[in-house]
Amino acid sequence: MVDSLPRASELTLDEKASLTSGRSFWETEGVERAGIPSIYLTDGPHGVRKQAQGGDHLGIGDSVPATCFPPAVALGSSWDAELLERVGAALGEEAKAEGVGVLLGPGINIKRSPLCGRNFEYLSEDPIVSGRLGAALVRGLQSQGVGASLKHFAANNQETDRLRVSADVDERPLREIYLRGFQHVVTHAQPWTVMCSYNRINGVYASEDPWLLTSVLRDEWGFEGLVVSDWGAVNDRVSALVAGLDLEMPSSGGVTDAQLVAAVRDGSLAESVLDTAADRVIDLVEKALAEADATATYDAEAHHALAREVAGRSVVLLKNDGVLPLAAEAGRTIAVIGEFARTPRYQGAGSSQIVPTRLDNALDELRALSGDATVVFAPGYTLGADADEVALTAEAVGIAADADDVLVFLGLPGEDESEGFDREHLELPAAQTALLEAVIAANPRVTVVLSNGGVVRVSGWADRVPAIVEGWLLGQAGGGAIADVLFGVVNPSGRLAETIPVRLEDTASYLNFPGEKGHVRYGEGLFVGYRDFDARAAAVSFPFGHGLSYTTFAFGAPTATATAEGIRVAVDVTNTGDRDGREVVQVYVSVPASRVQRPVRELKGFATVAVAAGATETVVIDVAAEDLAYFDTELDAWTVEGGEYVVEVGASSRDLRGSAVVTLAGDGRSAPLTIQSTLGEWLEHPVGGPVLMAALAQSAEAQGMGAMLADPGLRRMAESIPLVRAASFPGSPVTAEQLDQLVAAANR
Ligand code: BGC
Repeated sequence: MVDSLPRASELTLDEKASLTSGRSFWETEGVERAGIPSIYLTDGPHGVRKQAQGGDHLGIGDSVPATCFPPAVALGSSWDAELLERVGAALGEEAKAEGVGVLLGPGINIKRSPLCGRNFEYLSEDPIVSGRLGAALVRGLQSQGVGASLKHFAANNQETDRLRVSADVDERPLREIYLRGFQHVVTHAQPWTVMCSYNRINGVYASEDPWLLTSVLRDEWGFEGLVVSDWGAVNDRVSALVAGLDLEMPSSGGVTDAQLVAAVRDGSLAESVLDTAADRVIDLVEKALAEADATATYDAEAHHALAREVAGRSVVLLKNDGVLPLAAEAGRTIAVIGEFARTPRYQGAGSSQIVPTRLDNALDELRALSGDATVVFAPGYTLGADADEVALTAEAVGIAADADDVLVFLGLPGEDESEGFDREHLELPAAQTALLEAVIAANPRVTVVLSNGGVVRVSGWADRVPAIVEGWLLGQAGGGAIADVLFGVVNPSGRLAETIPVRLEDTASYLNFPGEKGHVRYGEGLFVGYRDFDARAAAVSFPFGHGLSYTTFAFGAPTATATAEGIRVAVDVTNTGDRDGREVVQVYVSVPASRVQRPVRELKGFATVAVAAGATETVVIDVAAEDLAYFDTELDAWTVEGGEYVVEVGASSRDLRGSAVVTLAGDGRSAPLTIQSTLGEWLEHPVGGPVLMAALAQSAEAQGMGAMLADPGLRRMAESIPLVRAASFPGSPVTAEQLDQLVAAANR
């Protein structure tokens, strides 16, 4: 334990101001006189990027070796919170061994467009997946006494113009899609820090948005930690401090500290606001020091093994017409084609780039597991350099023609996707698809193995190969994990946390990405990813939640029960094949009679379950009421509607195996009735409806109107008329005075 540090009130104005910005690229400022040391913050998120000298936030300079765990795109595909908690804990051990107090991650922004250059650093297109898995990473990390930095808060869904662009997004999608995951992580895992993003939201910089950083984050969600800027995200330091941005990173060389001091002196900034921020920095330093351990080490071999296990759990078997798993049998020849098999692409570019402790490649690992089978290799294409494509293709076709199994490794070149810019298309390099065509022509028994951080279009060839393995970017042990899956050492259980569209043009944000002139309009609203494809019943290449196994699972009839906390869903899952395996049970919910627009179905819960061959497991998933709520913009509040909820249980958003209906009482909240509310709104209202009908029963004229409203055919015509207008018609049964009484009675 460390002695408790002085509070801001014991410091000079200059000292307090200095605490609220960095000392260097990665260190907070300390106050030597008062015994306040500085602490280290480093990237993140899927490894520890501790730079020995100097610093840069673009992944350019070197850093000390650390385990490169699978990036978020892979972790998200595991759909396994328990697994991610272990990853978080391992990251925590490494950070601690490097003397790092805060690791800058996880990143949980929604994959709004498949083009976002940083999608490899994000978990999903769905906020329930992002929130659950993000919380697990935070829990694991912080269990080791290392703080998380939940980023990038918020609506940072593209790299184009990321330092200025305004994400113009309506409140419901902002709350229900873009903030929901952050809300879950903050309320369930209390990250030590939240990192505000560079961009603006509806015109206001995230770094100086009091609604975002204080009203929502602290007042509504109860965040207790510190808000740090993304590196260089501060626009106006004084406004940012007032809005709730405690710590500016990296160092501003004292420039912005002086601005804060001047603002306090001239009375435009209350000193108490500065004290609050400085105290939060002191609290963070104290937390980190309390857990620091100069003797801490980690077991690099064990972490490499964990990285391999996690990578294996993240691979998604998209398609398999019986060619996988491979047999390691004498007399069989396996042709491995593609430079990526030998030179793996295992992480994305930018600030998250880790220097790995070691690096496996699939080719060596396939050889290691191939037993008595023969493995032959041809690169097929080169990465970067000019190549004699004809010769490379001829060589690849040559080994494919004589092989029993053909593995073709394809993927995105590293320069195609990075922090800092977005992709412009979803295409694999033309040389690679041409190679694939030539190989298929020579031997159609092809398994394509993909390496990519953002989704690629597969619709040009997916139906002509018997198997596709989506290998994402799998970290330093990904080569072994790919071999494990291909040989069936690991039975694949990854599931798509994002839809693979048929074409880029089909995606919901297509016409509104990446915007122009400083604005990007989130015109698709709530309809992001599968929410959009399902609403339009549009074809996809592979749906959200999809992923195959080497065994098969049957689902029993699900049950859904209303509980005090929400809905309890239970379903039996039987492994009907002859291999042990894992299924990811997905719970989708819809509210057919909802009073607001809703997606056709939304994921509300999921669970990963290991089921032995032939066995049955009962899976119970509790869907919390908070996850069933929609954000009512009139009430300015989360609302759980009363009524029927349809619960669908399945293995993907397009593979629903059973459903159950449950009626919830709801929280009884609805917008108050006014004289401008329509007759329809009055009649639907649980109190207002009877009040109005009772008033209409009182006179002969009123009974006429009452009879009209009671007739379903006639009622439809009158439903859209505001009460005040209905009352203004000649012979109206409702007088102006009565209107106010009705409103008062209805809202009582
Ligand atoms: C990135 C953050 C990162 C920071 C520090 C920024 O450019 O957006 O994700 O943590 O740099 O490297």
